Amino acid sequence: MATHLLSLWNFTKEELASYIENALRLKRESKEGIRHQQLSGKTIGMVFEKPSTRTRVSFEAAMYGMGGQVVYLSGRDTQLARNEPLKDMARVMARYVDGLVIRTFGQEIVDELAEYSSIPVINALTDQHHPCQILSDIMTVIEEKGPIEDLHIAWIGDGNNMANSWIQAACRFGFALTLACPEGYRPNPDILSAAQAEAHKPITLLTDPVKAVQHADVINTDVWASMGQEEEQDDRVEVFQPYQVNHTLLEFAKPDAIVLHCLPAHRGEEITDEVLEGDRCVAWVQAENKMHIHKSILLAHLA
Ligand code: CP
Ligand code: NVA
Repeated sequence: MATHLLSLWNFTKEELASYIENALRLKRESKEGIRHQQLSGKTIGMVFEKPSTRTRVSFEAAMYGMGGQVVYLSGRDTQLARNEPLKDMARVMARYVDGLVIRTFGQEIVDELAEYSSIPVINALTDQHHPCQILSDIMTVIEEKGPIEDLHIAWIGDGNNMANSWIQAACRFGFALTLACPEGYRPNPDILSAAQAEAHKPITLLTDPVKAVQHADVINTDVWASMGQEEEQDDRVEVFQPYQVNHTLLEFAKPDAIVLHCLPAHRGEEITDEVLEGDRCVAWVQAENKMHIHKSILLAHLA
């Protein structure tokens, strides 16, 4: 298995599936009262240059829950804020901690850190990818609906970091994915074409959200303006109105289709309060599963 987890692309289906199988086992064992201590004596550094509730707390809970320790650094607290080169940061951190979990802007930042790091670097969200989130989302889908290969997943809204990682997941796991994104807000074209070229099931990009949900077992959405795009918020709210996941859109979907949202949600924008709080939405299970998948990832890379 690769040392770093920067995107889902560098992993086989079997490797990705093993993160999920182990997370399901860890979740079951935790609920049975089994305490995990496999990371006793290990420490991770967490460098977050963007805000986080779930990813930060679930990584910290995962690490402490397995006997390890965490050093959390917000971006402004490190010398990166004063332009210390990434390659220097990478080599220094490797002398203090056993792994680095980083949330930042460009994918090239995590790529460069990994290039110079002798310890595992785990991508906790960049502008381009959110691989750990997609693993916990797929874990949730498997729990709720069964084998992912048999399912049709829909992505409604922005062609953002989450959409890019779903595209890579569709290729690697072998499930059908249909995305509905407005013109000008499509997923990364290189990521999409690379995945389509290798995929065993269709990965389809549409503009019509109704068509995208018609055959879907799982409907996914996310905020219309991601972190770092706050100044585009007003323009995006206008463009994305037809992409709201609401009661009317769900009437075109299968009656048993479930709704995923990685959170944080903007009720009344990409999803209505009614759908987010409704029986078909599994956002709260997704949020819990982040902790179990992070335990599994940390075990795979650090133990
Ligand atoms: N889903 C997710 O990554 O949430 P946070 O931004 O709160 O970490
Ligand atoms: N696309 C969102 C995901 C947040 C978890 C963002 O990058 O802000």
